[in-house]
Amino acid sequence: MCGIVGYIGQKKATDVCVAGLKRLEYRGYDSAGVAVAGDGKLDVLKVVGKLDRLIDALDESPLDSTCGIGHTRWATHGKPSKTNSHPHLSNDGLIAVVHNGIIENYARLRDELKAEGVEFLSETDTEVIAHLVRKYYEGDLAAAVQRASQDLEGAFALGVVAGDQPDLMVAARRFSPLVIGIGEGENFIASDMGAIRQFTDKVYVIDDDEMAVVKRDGITLSDMDGNPVEREAYVIPWPAEAAQKGGHKHFMHKEIHEQPRAMRECLLGRLSDPNASITLESLNMTADEIKGLRKIVFTACGTAYHAGLVGRFLMEKLARIPSECDLAAELRARNPVVLDNTLAIIVSQSGETADTLVALRELKEKGAKVISVVNVVDSSIARESDGVVYIQAGPEIGVASTKAYTLQILTIALIAAHFADVRGATPEEDLVALREAMLSLPELAQTLLDREDDVKAVAAKYFESPNALYLGRGVNLATAMEGALKLKEISYIHAEGYSAGEMKHGPIALVEPSLVTVAIAVKGDVYEKMIGNIQEIKARSGPVIGVAFDGDTEIPRQADDVIWVPECPELVSPITIAIPLQILAYHIADMKGCHIDQPRNLAKTVTVE
Ligand code: G6P
Repeated sequence: MCGIVGYIGQKKATDVCVAGLKRLEYRGYDSAGVAVAGDGKLDVLKVVGKLDRLIDALDESPLDSTCGIGHTRWATHGKPSKTNSHPHLSNDGLIAVVHNGIIENYARLRDELKAEGVEFLSETDTEVIAHLVRKYYEGDLAAAVQRASQDLEGAFALGVVAGDQPDLMVAARRFSPLVIGIGEGENFIASDMGAIRQFTDKVYVIDDDEMAVVKRDGITLSDMDGNPVEREAYVIPWPAEAAQKGGHKHFMHKEIHEQPRAMRECLLGRLSDPNASITLESLNMTADEIKGLRKIVFTACGTAYHAGLVGRFLMEKLARIPSECDLAAELRARNPVVLDNTLAIIVSQSGETADTLVALRELKEKGAKVISVVNVVDSSIARESDGVVYIQAGPEIGVASTKAYTLQILTIALIAAHFADVRGATPEEDLVALREAMLSLPELAQTLLDREDDVKAVAAKYFESPNALYLGRGVNLATAMEGALKLKEISYIHAEGYSAGEMKHGPIALVEPSLVTVAIAVKGDVYEKMIGNIQEIKARSGPVIGVAFDGDTEIPRQADDVIWVPECPELVSPITIAIPLQILAYHIADMKGCHIDQPRNLAKTVTVE
């Protein structure tokens, strides 16, 4: 989840590295650094804090080389400090390494290297890599990285430079994402395509246990045994501007507002006529396979997990397939039973989340067929799946996931409706209504965005609340959990998402005037029960923000404030209701002056277990 950028070419390497790292700040941002090669030595600059500090430091002490590597860090081993930040150097300062991932056997390697006389300066796992590469370096940097990689256990994406080799960089990967950008007279290394899209639209996506020697005029790919690897260049399908704020104050705000367009793109070529079947070619499943499914296991982390919870509901309701949804980090611990004809649906925006990737491998190994619902094209999760349905959201930069969430649910809804159709599990007229509802979502999303000021007014009333409870039931229990997650991650207000039915078994003890409750009470199967729950809170003097369908006359009588949502079938309401809850969290955090796109301690892509 740290970010890596490397450059070799004609430009000043630090300029390119910093511009690339700027796009990767969402991966982690507690310290940053660069190392450049030239004149037989390395020059290094590191700072604690955000990238702007590094920019200031480089203004004061510019580094002129045209070959260098840079890094933004999200601490895993050792607190954020100058010594713990990357690049890490060998004792003689000849080798510099930037690393994303975790070296699991670092303690043993450190002890061995110490016994050989190496002095360790930092508390990081990464430092062992710099010393190992130095140990094996005899003038051939690629050979030294290759040899060092054999000693490493765990996950890594590496960028390595040597002070006496200003004409090349070496990159290597095992489990952590890595791409090599292809330019003319210049080439790049990066943790993801977004970092270097501003410079090139062509990349090589590096696989596990592969490495690259990157020079100004060429790139050589090989496996870790030195065997050459042939790879076609991947052309990045989105424009460079897609990774910019486009007039919005924050990426999160921009991405919330991109939802209508993104939904249209997600539906494109898959669903255009409510009376026709849904087309999902990349799913890679025959009708017989779909008919034969006995169980579905969703697995994911964070916001994507909440999308999986909605998915479980939709699959059981529509396709009548027994479904589970597991937190990816917990899946392995319970040694899940995988029956014949089990389908795993892996949900991930980045396609690189380490816990999710491990869960995927576990399920695959146990015999499940794996399809993934992913945003980042050609990411590890996409590549390791038997089938993949891209959510087509475009780059998501804000750490708090917004458009990816609604599009994950929409994509899963498409899959569920398709399965229901193939299995004949839902009456045709209900499927037609569902497809109609899905087709109307871009318009409904726009209506909700047009009402932003109404939600902002509610935010102004409650932004100083210390605690919040989000209640929902049925398909919108996950919506409540996601609403609470959005609020807590960007505003730091303690918030819990809870089943309204479970509230009386615990959280009701918390209800008092300073606890604001957001109650999702849209008309549908659980409406009456939600009204009862709102009354229980009002009876205990708790303020309530109701989320209701337009035209509802009961909720305004019960709740202190109402967030209005256009009426739609309950099964797609998790998609529409998520939007005002995103807006509510956004404005509350903005009113509190929080760092919305880079909340403290969080990283967008968590590539460590
Ligand atoms: C991090 C991000 C969340 C995201 C989760 C899963 O925690 O901050 O926004 O939901 O990872 O990420 P993924 O890329 O797998 O969807």
